[in-house]
Amino acid sequence: MPISIRPLTPFFAGEVAGVDCRRPLELGEVAAIEAGMDRYAVLVFHDQPLDDEEQLAFTRRFGALENYATPGNIRSPKQQRLRPGMADFSNLDNDGNIISAEDRLWFFKLGDRLWHSDSSFRPIPAKYSLLSGRIVPSWGADTEFADMRAAYDALDPRTRAIVDDLVCEHSLIYSRGAIGFTDLSAEEKAAFAPVRQPLVRTHPVTGRRSLFLASHAGAIVGWTIPEARMFLHELTEHATQREFVYRHKWSVGDLVMWDNRQTMHRARRFDRNKVRDVRRTTLAGEAAIPASALAEKAA
Ligand SMILES: [Fe+2]
Repeated sequence: MPISIRPLTPFFAGEVAGVDCRRPLELGEVAAIEAGMDRYAVLVFHDQPLDDEEQLAFTRRFGALENYATPGNIRSPKQQRLRPGMADFSNLDNDGNIISAEDRLWFFKLGDRLWHSDSSFRPIPAKYSLLSGRIVPSWGADTEFADMRAAYDALDPRTRAIVDDLVCEHSLIYSRGAIGFTDLSAEEKAAFAPVRQPLVRTHPVTGRRSLFLASHAGAIVGWTIPEARMFLHELTEHATQREFVYRHKWSVGDLVMWDNRQTMHRARRFDRNKVRDVRRTTLAGEAAIPASALAEKAA
């Protein structure tokens, strides 16, 4: 059966049929999925009971894995539950127990419930993220996605003219600070030093512009902090209106793949006493292409 994609919303997100993610994909299948990603920005694959090896192999068909020397979270090497290349978005510690509500690791993880784009706090942010549902709670824990292309297109002309030239500073310090978690060590603060990103980026294949927002963005170059935070807050409210959002309700075996260059996402609340084991693989991206030469110069 050839690959087919059914739209899940009028704007974006598609459901893929006709592919088994556990077996090696043919080049034509890779091209069909990439074309689907360019168009829909989020793709959902059902009934894909992947193990870590299979998820890594499937991910690598679309490029190189993201690989940074500095951590993107506060799990120490001895707290790692999964093998290198697999990002752990479970609520489990490395003994397989549910992380305590008092644990700083849990505080840090709660920040994933704010809208964000993966690795926007890195100099080279992520391309695709792939999240595999291994154990999913019966209530809550949905993942929501917002279409940042549609959000950009829907800006009033005056606001669009302002955002095109702006450069933001992104850091995990900002997104965790937004929920009151500031208990970071000197090493963590150094690893999470802010990076600059254009507020509007251009997709390298389609040429479409997107708002490049994330809760990691905490400053705008040349603006005061209160003015910047208020503007980013307003833009985020605009970009995450219901009409731009697809909400994914997880079943075991779902694989959801999204393009961080044209979407934001957030995790939703669930019963923290229930196990949630979802595992992410992440593809390296490219430096964000600013919307204008002026933004390029400022970055
Ligand atoms: Fe994320």
